[in-house]
Amino acid sequence: MDPQKNQGTGASIVARDITKIYGTGPDAFHALGPIDLDIKPGEFVSLIGPSGCGKSTTMLLVSGLEPISQGHVEIDGKPLTKPISEIGIVFQDHLLLDFRTAIQNVMLQQEIRKLDKADMRSRADALFEQLDLVGAEDKYPWQLSGGMRQRVSIARALVHDPSMLIMDEPFGALDAISRTQIRHDLEMLWLAKRKTVLFITHSIEEAVGLSDRVLVMSKSPGRIVEEISIDLPRPRPAHLGEYPEFAVYAKKIYTIFEKLGVYNF
Ligand SMILES: Nc1ncnc2c1ncn2[C@@H]1O[C@H](COP(=O)(O)OP(=O)(O)O)[C@@H](O)[C@H]1O
Ligand SMILES: [Mg+2]
Repeated sequence: MDPQKNQGTGASIVARDITKIYGTGPDAFHALGPIDLDIKPGEFVSLIGPSGCGKSTTMLLVSGLEPISQGHVEIDGKPLTKPISEIGIVFQDHLLLDFRTAIQNVMLQQEIRKLDKADMRSRADALFEQLDLVGAEDKYPWQLSGGMRQRVSIARALVHDPSMLIMDEPFGALDAISRTQIRHDLEMLWLAKRKTVLFITHSIEEAVGLSDRVLVMSKSPGRIVEEISIDLPRPRPAHLGEYPEFAVYAKKIYTIFEKLGVYNF
């Protein structure tokens, strides 16, 4: 397989002038935008910005989980009017159910969506293999490391074969070694499946390490101030810091944040 070739199984995401205002009247709070997004099928795009700038809000608007105050979103050319089902979401906190084993957490998707059990189980098994989770099937979340719990969350987000994956700071709570490992495994999985990924992070290393394109956001209310294409071969190495090309991209993003007066993100 040519890893650079787009397999075309992902959805396109287009957003025009989307804005979010939480609350009304004197309590109204302008949390985001307006922003535009143009994400191609199968593209891996990161959104990076300071805490509170509206990254999670963007995720909620694009997935239809929160109403858009102004502007509109189209998924695969169709206007977004309700929460989409063709999606997998991974949050910073794994949000696995403690009373279900790893495999039962993943199979929750089959139960909720009433999909074929045998088919879904074989997809779950394949994902457990790809995510280095073999042997963890019958363990409960509290018996797994943080990295493994996030891997189970990724399996759960992908088991129903959605056309897009949205990840909201998924590795934020993990230690450095687990982050590097899971980043690599996510990249390999993405190369194999080519789902469209919107990856939210405040880690420059993660954004450059994973993305085709990085969208840099300003402070609240967040707007997209710069877009950087990451032209580095894949799969990308674990120790990106050793590569001068990586350092150039990272510096570029730091410089943008410096100009915006953002040092903490
Ligand atoms: N449901 C809500 N009601 C009111 N304000 C909110 C709500 N959700 C988020 N906010 C505010 O909107 C801003 C953006 O939040 P969020 O999208 O979570 O930022 P980020 O993910 O970039 O840290 C923050 O100031 C936050 O407090
Ligand atoms: Mg957030």
